[in-house]
Amino acid sequence: MKKGAVRFGVSMDPELLDHFDDLIERKGYGNRSEAIRDLIRDYLVRQEWKGGQEIVGTITLVYNHHVRELSEALTDIQHDHSDRVLSTLHIHLDHANCLEVIAVKGSSEEVQKLADRLIGTRGVKHGRLAATTTGKRLK
Ligand code: NI
Repeated sequence: MKKGAVRFGVSMDPELLDHFDDLIERKGYGNRSEAIRDLIRDYLVRQEWKGGQEIVGTITLVYNHHVRELSEALTDIQHDHSDRVLSTLHIHLDHANCLEVIAVKGSSEEVQKLADRLIGTRGVKHGRLAATTTGKRLK
């Protein structure tokens, strides 16, 4: 057991625990403690997103750069939010399609708004915001 770690008991329906054990085995967890720690961290990160705290994330976009003025529009939006955009990775997938991954940091509301604006730009085929944490509030 990790130094300073606390042990606690949890009562649970055996069937529920069986399902949990099956799942964590498939996911490759070494033991229940590791899996439960990850679940708790994920829950805490989700709360950060609801609480308007500073968060980080990545916005992934797939779009056709032949759509008129689309590349310029996406670049303009990122310049308008340059204080929130940390870095952008652009990959030319094929003759027409581009993949863009934008690392962002800011309040959860700001980051969500920026993601909505980029993903909602006409011509973007698919977009997704992957939300994570600055890590400062997690052990
Ligand atoms: Ni491209």
